[in-house]
Amino acid sequence: MSAALKNLDAYWMPFTANRDFKKKPRVIKGASGHYYTGSDGSRLYDTFSGLWTSGLGHCHPKIVAAVQKQVATLDYCMTFQVTNDKAAALAEKVTAMAPEGITRCFFTNSGSESVDTALKIALGYHRARGEGNRTRLIGRERGYHGVNFGGMSVGGMVPNRKVFSANLIPGVDHIRHTQDLEHKAFTRGQPAWGAHLADDLERLCALHDGSNIAAVIVEPVAGSTGVLPPPVGYLERLREICDKHGILLIFDEVIAAFGRLARPFGAQRFGVMPDIITTAKGLTNGVIPMGAVLVSDSIYDAFMQGPEHMIELFHGYTYSGHPVAAAAGLATMGVYEEEGTFEQAAALEQHFEDLLHSFADHKHVIDVRNFGLMGAIEMAPREGAPGARGGEAHKKCFWDEHLVIRNGMDTLQFSPFLNSRPDEMQKSFETIRRVLDTIE
Ligand SMILES: Cc1ncc(COP(=O)(O)O)c(C=O)c1O
Repeated sequence: MSAALKNLDAYWMPFTANRDFKKKPRVIKGASGHYYTGSDGSRLYDTFSGLWTSGLGHCHPKIVAAVQKQVATLDYCMTFQVTNDKAAALAEKVTAMAPEGITRCFFTNSGSESVDTALKIALGYHRARGEGNRTRLIGRERGYHGVNFGGMSVGGMVPNRKVFSANLIPGVDHIRHTQDLEHKAFTRGQPAWGAHLADDLERLCALHDGSNIAAVIVEPVAGSTGVLPPPVGYLERLREICDKHGILLIFDEVIAAFGRLARPFGAQRFGVMPDIITTAKGLTNGVIPMGAVLVSDSIYDAFMQGPEHMIELFHGYTYSGHPVAAAAGLATMGVYEEEGTFEQAAALEQHFEDLLHSFADHKHVIDVRNFGLMGAIEMAPREGAPGARGGEAHKKCFWDEHLVIRNGMDTLQFSPFLNSRPDEMQKSFETIRRVLDTIE
């Protein structure tokens, strides 16, 4: 470990068991392509593309060059009342890639900010149209929509909510999640069972009256909860119910957008069109923090009322549309196109699915799930120690096998590079199997 990293006392790490981590830190000091460089100089294969972020691989030369150039040209300018050329160009580019009818783009700096922005836009939209009674927001159990108060409230990850239970925003309900080991364990792709679970939204419409509901937010494929592909017909049913009751449908595509489902947007893969899409991560290949909220003309137009000299939406961040982030975004979109990244991702799906499902016979494994280049292997928790198996697998992979894997409790999650090499992907799963064999 380098001298500078000997003392980690000052560093309070996010979503990490700090005390355990600091006993034997896992520190990365470099990256290139599909590999990290550890602080001891070791090369580690990254099975998670950063944190679902870096589908093109690390330090892509074209993105690095664009960032270097931009930071030396225009490092920052405010985007309230003036703006920069790169933010405008990226908004144009991203909306051109978006599903038909999605035409406007509002920049944020993260997925959490995108979600809270989307919820505010949904509430403001209804109010602007004279339906200010539509204040209720609907999320889904096991949903992850970031950690700000809005996203945490519509989210359904219990540990994230527990401590803040009394402070969650009011007027939020949740539909049921779609996971059910009895009906759909070891399904490849979208499960045939479960479209009826979308009818839970009808139950909430009956309870509150649909006319009071502003928006429903779901991840098209739930990611951080351990990859839950939507049952066949499920998203279509949600769309139908939203239309019937005048409710906006928000797809949280912070993970799904930009190739993870082999299309620019998950909505295009499923052929179900939401009213609002939230993004981040793959927008800049993770190189610079940035998010974007995409909306239809009708939503944008609803705000464009009143005196023209007045601000229409009192919302924005100091770094909304940051020129260096936007330059990274533009370069990223350029690489997706030039390298045919979404086609590359599509071509990897079958191999990825086969490798994941080869774990179905493993003694610890109780479910395997996949869609696009999102996958999960769920292990049974060890008696009295939930999370221990997953945590041990992560550490053994890192220390003994030079492999970075991600676990959420006992579920291993996978987000391979969109341009992975099939042999490297295969080797990484062979390694994981060997590691799981050694774990009690
Ligand atoms: C679907 C979804 N929404 C929101 C977020 C929050 O993004 P961030 O961590 O950039 O705030 C995430 C992060 O993983 C996510 O997966």
